[in-house]
Amino acid sequence: MMPDLVKICEVGPRDGLQNEAAFVSTEDKVRLINLLSAAGFIYIEAASFVSPKWVPQMADGKEVLAGIARKKGVVYAALAPNLMGYDAAKQAGANEVAVFASASETFSRKNINCSIEGSLARYELVCRKAAKEGVPVRGYVSCVVACPYEGPVTPEAVCRVAASLIRMGCREVSLGDTIGRATPDHVTVLLDAILEVIPPEKIAGHFHDTYGRSLDCIRAGLGRGIRIFDSSVGGAGGCPFAPGAKGNVATHEVVQMLEAEGFTTGIDALALQEATKFMDRILGRQP
Ligand code: HMG
Ligand code: MG
Repeated sequence: MMPDLVKICEVGPRDGLQNEAAFVSTEDKVRLINLLSAAGFIYIEAASFVSPKWVPQMADGKEVLAGIARKKGVVYAALAPNLMGYDAAKQAGANEVAVFASASETFSRKNINCSIEGSLARYELVCRKAAKEGVPVRGYVSCVVACPYEGPVTPEAVCRVAASLIRMGCREVSLGDTIGRATPDHVTVLLDAILEVIPPEKIAGHFHDTYGRSLDCIRAGLGRGIRIFDSSVGGAGGCPFAPGAKGNVATHEVVQMLEAEGFTTGIDALALQEATKFMDRILGRQP
């Protein structure tokens, strides 16, 4: 029997770096992405076309996308909060854009200065233009379990936003546990609700590892048929507008766990180790 394939979306160059206080040079970002391409990732979130005043670390997205060595078959994606971001991402050569909504009203306002409804209206415009131009769109829902400002978030609130994103044309929706509060039970309950309206092949899990529960949450997702997970090389990350948000689950831990449990990821462990070492180095961390 063919081993079950799990797709890992590597978000380190974006989610991993966006919250770093010290500016990481364009050259280092490019080198990191090239190392990730070599490790076999087919989806790399490479940049973010948001306001440089809000997220200075991501201000060089255009230069990053111009500098990388593009590997055939790899999608280099970028975050876009509005049409302006979409246009900039497309012009820079992003193969795909990701729009990001929230299941929590307060987080939406803190993160993108806009209500949930208002953001969905913006994303509708992005999706419409992207469809015309043949650019695939990924959708994120943040705060799928808890909000740093409002506390617990209901599965119904998440379903509403996720279903809207799929309806407007997002090819998949990534469910973000932005501050890492999820337990496996939360994930199962949430997925049982979401799977009523969205098929499993259009759902991804995006876990921040604040309490070290991400791998167990991924296992819960696997148990419900989810086969797409986001992770960040070296476990770097956090969101500047989500106090308490820790790094995304570390990619090498996800790969190790999946392969140990009989899944295949297509990732070259040694090449991933090189990328992880490099990420540690640019963040000035002990490996
Ligand atoms: P705003 O101030 O409401 O926007 O910000 P505005 O339309 O009023 O424009 C104000 C200024 O921003 C103008 O410039 C615009 O040109 C500029 P000024 O005239 O003052 O010089 N502007 C832009 N510049 C560059 N690119 C753009 C853009 N749009 C407007 N696309 C905005 C609204 C959304 C832009 C702002 O709030 C923003 O950039 N927020 C950043 C949000 C962000 O990046 N958050 C982190 C990523 S989300 C995340 O980490 C969660 C995730 O990982 C999943 C999970 O874990 O849950 C995805
Ligand atoms: Mg995130």
